[in-house]
Amino acid sequence: VNGFGRAFRINIFGESHGDCVGVVIDGCPAGIELSEESFAFDLKRRQGCRLGTTQRVEKDYPLLQSGVFNGKTTGTPIIISFQNQNIRSSDYKNQGEIPRPSHADFVAWKKFGGYHDYRGGGHFSGRLTTGLVAAGVIAKKLLSPLKCSATLLEVHGQSDAVSAALAAEKNKDSVGGIIECRTTPMPIGLGEPFFDSVESLLSHAMFSIPGIKGIEFGSGFAAANMYGSEFNDPIIDKEGRTQSNHSGGINGGITNGNDLVFRVVVRPTASIAKEQKSINLKTGASTTLYIQGRHDACFALRVPVVVEAMTAIVLSDFIIRGTKNYSGSLE
Ligand SMILES: Cc1cc2nc3c(=O)[nH]c(=O)nc-3n(C[C@H](O)[C@H](O)[C@H](O)COP(=O)(O)O)c2cc1C
Repeated sequence: VNGFGRAFRINIFGESHGDCVGVVIDGCPAGIELSEESFAFDLKRRQGCRLGTTQRVEKDYPLLQSGVFNGKTTGTPIIISFQNQNIRSSDYKNQGEIPRPSHADFVAWKKFGGYHDYRGGGHFSGRLTTGLVAAGVIAKKLLSPLKCSATLLEVHGQSDAVSAALAAEKNKDSVGGIIECRTTPMPIGLGEPFFDSVESLLSHAMFSIPGIKGIEFGSGFAAANMYGSEFNDPIIDKEGRTQSNHSGGINGGITNGNDLVFRVVVRPTASIAKEQKSINLKTGASTTLYIQGRHDACFALRVPVVVEAMTAIVLSDFIIRGTKNYSGSLE
């Protein structure tokens, strides 16, 4: 129930303040070169302890516990775990009873009957994205020469993301942002017409990242104010290359060979130092909440690499499943 993908399948496990977090990957072909060092670059991009992000910094050393032998994948399930070392659970002592507004505390309490590990957001924490990034590193290897690149376009409407984050933090507040992801060069024919359309599975993957609140492909919501003559992408050669890319590289759920382009919205962080209104779940009494602990004023700063990872996972799954369907020539 907590996994994603068909042929290239991932499951994540762990809690923010438990022993470890990690990922199980099933369906990775044998013979892919993999070592602890393969993960360093992308894991570093996800880490906090930069301006506008959390002061919690973890070593994020990947333990390759299964599925890798003599520096290559074996074709059997891969288990990668990361020890949690920099924990300050005392910051969360009241959080079991007083849910943070717009965080997962309230729904977790109701759904799991109060048995959930609430420390640092438990299983709902952004820390769980460490496993997603690790799986993404492997998916990116499978995808080569396709390259997924995500960038933070703006934070709170401003292109200077760090200044916007710091201004919010100074005011005991938080901000979100918009991330764009582009994949190139794209093959024609990935995806299915309806339920496994490329938009469907990418949206599924993106909304699995905590805090993503919206997605648009190509021109997205702006299409509502465009004429067909403006939106339609003129086809300029037999490979289907188009002059514009308002469709974001997908037609009928299927990749058309142009760059795959989409944007996601990251919400402002729920945990802010400003006082907030909540209730005590045990007594029902209204209460004022002052959140302690180390939080990202703007976790959007850390999310581009997670978006890339989930994109690579979706595309690898399509490729391994062989959804291209037709390999001949129409000439
Ligand atoms: C990399 C990353 C870091 C995050 N850091 C924080 C944080 O410091 N504080 C917080 O309240 N939420 C943080 N979040 C977001 C929460 O995990 C998320 O808002 C929460 O699970 C509720 O889910 P929802 O926003 O999708 O409804 C982070 C998310 C990611 C992906």
